[in-house]
Amino acid sequence: MKTIGILTSGGDAPGMNAAIRAVVRTSIYHGARVMGIKQGFAGLLEGDIYEMNLSSVADIIHRGGTMLRSSRSDEFKTEEGLKKAIKVLKIFGIDGLVVLGGDGSFKGANSLYDAGIPTIGIPCTIDNDLGYTDFTVGFLTAVETVVEAISKIRDTSSSHGRANIIEVMGRHCGDIALYSGLAGGGESIIVPEVDLDMDGIFKKIINGRNRGKLHHIIVLAEGVGNPYEVGKQIEENTGLDTRVTILGHLQRGGTPTTFDRIIASEMGRKAVELLLDGKSGKALGIKCNKIINPDFKEALLIKKEFNTNMYETAQILSI
Ligand code: F6P
Repeated sequence: MKTIGILTSGGDAPGMNAAIRAVVRTSIYHGARVMGIKQGFAGLLEGDIYEMNLSSVADIIHRGGTMLRSSRSDEFKTEEGLKKAIKVLKIFGIDGLVVLGGDGSFKGANSLYDAGIPTIGIPCTIDNDLGYTDFTVGFLTAVETVVEAISKIRDTSSSHGRANIIEVMGRHCGDIALYSGLAGGGESIIVPEVDLDMDGIFKKIINGRNRGKLHHIIVLAEGVGNPYEVGKQIEENTGLDTRVTILGHLQRGGTPTTFDRIIASEMGRKAVELLLDGKSGKALGIKCNKIINPDFKEALLIKKEFNTNMYETAQILSI
């Protein structure tokens, strides 16, 4: 293996740059060339590729987003797209590929692996929706952003005696809502993994108000319900004034936390060393503080488990 390619795909995640830096620097450290593929699989199909050096990745460890840019490519998912991608990789002399992204990107990476291209995946998504790993790069940074927002919204919620609904991202996974709800001291957490109990929420609001509580923060995972509808129901059933904040893409940016930078760096190094060692078709992850590397196929089959214990803790503490 002489030349390693790297691309970032799907929704960007804070820490992607730290992982790019680690892949580039570890490759050069071991005497390999490294080619940056811009705009994910779409850029691969277009041959938007350049050679990276040590200074290409200077001053990026602390930056959110991805310096290689990202995309979601429909063309790559077709048989012709895959063939074209393999052709381009050959033209640029890329012997192995590191793909940074979430489950969709890993499926693409696995197709390339099945087609004979040595490939390794680094899990980068704010959603934390991959079952085989405790954490994905970017998740805890997004949670930090949400916790900060909750604290600010709580100030105004208390001043006005309102119920504030904060919609967070996560696609089909409630982890951002769960972790930020617990860490931010939210009163109610609504996630796809737990049946919605509006009556329970009304009761909690009324009980809280009766004992002089001034705010009520509801952290709602996107896609579970319409936040404005939830607000309307709260107003109708509790008489409390409500406001909605949809945090949206704010959660995807910002400087990565220390933890995200560290796991991105460790996984970036590991990805390169696995490829140089002749190993591929693997998804990197972190389990009990250890970097793991199951096969893509095995990793993608593991269903994400919801942390019901953490949910219960949040429920108990927000009584
Ligand atoms: O997968 C990351 C994510 O931010 C999800 O939480 C969200 O549902 C989706 O991407 C938004 O995608 P886009 O950036 O294409 O609007």
